[in-house]
Amino acid sequence: MRRGSIVQLVLLALVIGGAVTAVALLIPWLPVSASEERDRIDFVFWFTTGIAIFVFTVVATLSVYALIKFRAPPGDDRDGPPTHGHTGLEIFWTTVPAVLVTAIAIVSGIVLTENGNAGHDPLRVQVVAQQFAWSFTYENGPAKGVASPILYLPIDRKVKLEILSKDVIHSFWVPEFGQKQDAVPGGVNHLVITPNKTGTFPVICTELCGLGHALMRSRSVVMQPGAFEKWARTQKGGGATASGKSVFTDQGCGSCHTLAAAGAKGTIGPDLDKLSQEAQKAGKPLDEFVKESIVNPNAYLEPGYPKGLMPQTFGQLPKAQLDALVEYLVKSAKGAK
Ligand code: CUA
Repeated sequence: MRRGSIVQLVLLALVIGGAVTAVALLIPWLPVSASEERDRIDFVFWFTTGIAIFVFTVVATLSVYALIKFRAPPGDDRDGPPTHGHTGLEIFWTTVPAVLVTAIAIVSGIVLTENGNAGHDPLRVQVVAQQFAWSFTYENGPAKGVASPILYLPIDRKVKLEILSKDVIHSFWVPEFGQKQDAVPGGVNHLVITPNKTGTFPVICTELCGLGHALMRSRSVVMQPGAFEKWARTQKGGGATASGKSVFTDQGCGSCHTLAAAGAKGTIGPDLDKLSQEAQKAGKPLDEFVKESIVNPNAYLEPGYPKGLMPQTFGQLPKAQLDALVEYLVKSAKGAK
């Protein structure tokens, strides 16, 4: 093969490789990013994928071209000419991959370290997972002491999540923030997020945790710092009196139970619009029955529902919230009769 056609072939492979890599890099394939950590992860992803696509395309082009161009004509059974190794080529295809793999390792190491760095004064939020709801408690900042079923965050401030679970393993995931972290009973896991886009993003449980797993969802709302402070003030002002309906919603009861008054349509646990009939079957006064079913769910089981289905963690609710929830359910059951 003449030197000129080798140069032509290599140039062709490089052009095709460049074009395919450009298609990969220029089209926005991934969902929007809303955090600095996700931006860094995307950079590593495309850095690695871009290199892989380019190398693959160049090698594939050369191979396909050689297969077609140099195939033996029909009936030609001769051996090819003897060839010897090519030292220069071997040094080239050893050095280039070594340099690329080292570069990928260095970039990944830097991003991993940066993404785990919460800085000296992050906003600290405790994230508690339980079947089948999330709750977020602010440990410092303007919302210190506030507990919310929705993760409100100010933009451009590092947030350190302290993730724990009351019952089984769950996993915290906001696709736009780009990272997942397990919530494990008995331990605390950390995740650093620096939101850089305002908006509402889904909080998803991404570890199979029971029948209500698919419904274990909340939201993260990223706001301007002023709006976040305003939200914190309203929470601290009026949030002290617990309404039974908000406890019902915040604790995720609607994931499993139907309750017309709260617009809940869950079908995993018993229908709470039929509480009066169920109390009669259990032979207990309505209010006593409702409270017992929350605090000690295995004391009486509605026929057809297995033992242990209802989490036993709701007995740990603060007394004011528990009382409000019981009162709310009793009232709506009387209304539904
Ligand atoms: Cu919690 Cu899946």
